[in-house]
Amino acid sequence: MAAPTFPLNAWYVVAWSHEVGKRSILARTICNKRVALWRRADNSLAAVEDACWHRLAPLSLGWIENDDVVCKYHGLRFNGQGACTLMPSQDSISPGACVKAFPVLDRHRFVWIWPGDPAKADASLVPDMHWNDDPAWTGDGKTMFAKCDYRLFVDNLMDLTHETFVHSTSIGNTAVAETPMETTHDGKSVTVQRFMQDIDAPPFWRAQLGKPGNVDRWQIIRFEPPCTIVLDVGVAPTGTGALQGDRSQGVNLRVLNTISPETETTCMYFWSLVRNYKLHDVTLTTLQRETNASIFVEDQIVIEAQQQRISEMPDMPLRTLNIDAGSFRARKIIERMIAEEA
Ligand code: FES
Ligand SMILES: [Fe+2]
Repeated sequence: MAAPTFPLNAWYVVAWSHEVGKRSILARTICNKRVALWRRADNSLAAVEDACWHRLAPLSLGWIENDDVVCKYHGLRFNGQGACTLMPSQDSISPGACVKAFPVLDRHRFVWIWPGDPAKADASLVPDMHWNDDPAWTGDGKTMFAKCDYRLFVDNLMDLTHETFVHSTSIGNTAVAETPMETTHDGKSVTVQRFMQDIDAPPFWRAQLGKPGNVDRWQIIRFEPPCTIVLDVGVAPTGTGALQGDRSQGVNLRVLNTISPETETTCMYFWSLVRNYKLHDVTLTTLQRETNASIFVEDQIVIEAQQQRISEMPDMPLRTLNIDAGSFRARKIIERMIAEEA
């Protein structure tokens, strides 16, 4: 059997908070587990295995009644803890009738689920994406369902050198690939930084800044295992001190990314693009979200094609260059988490 590619004892985003409601059941796959999600009347979340205890019909085909999910096939009911609460045509409930329930919570506009041992689910371990609902920031995002190993997106985000080649019409130019980066790690996170001085601004950044002249540009990438990556990125007019810490003359974005494995070769990529300027400009929010979505499609095309080759050539190694230092470290942490569960 092939080695596991993801740990189970971790929080993964399974949906945007607004996608899980009280009247319908959302079906998702996370780490090879089928999950049915809904909300109770008090807005709390419920997540159970999406296969009925009776004959394995998907519970997501059913409906919600008094906070419980009703199986569409023969009407068994289960509560959010997975216990059967009603069996039609019999007075008592068969002992042991239950489905697996998953720890689940709302945080930073996302629904996070813990597919592993429920006893280990510690809410303080949810990766930090607070910019997504911080009043000092605004923005929006989307979900990409991609046909690839989630770690290929981790690789992609931990090394933004690819912007020069994949995104040359928007956020990339030669300055990105020409500037070396610095990688640091502490066992719990990995940080990659790249500071570009006195460069031409790529088209997307020129438009955001709205000023002529060369810029200083920063990219600070932070990985939290197993699959959350926050980009602190921006540009400012050259020499205004942005690279020394004064960003007041520039523009600053956070790109929030978390890529949850559905299976070994498919994933759900949740992302959000947030800014700390022009907070009430709704048109800008839409424009930025749609621009970013089209930039990310450029990644998806390359990475899904890469996955096809990887699947066709399972014995070929993925080689590691200087530019891969960040993803190398990130993958080491993922490997360690998987090994600890073995
Ligand atoms: S399969 Fe669900 S009630 Fe029979
Ligand atoms: Fe990209």
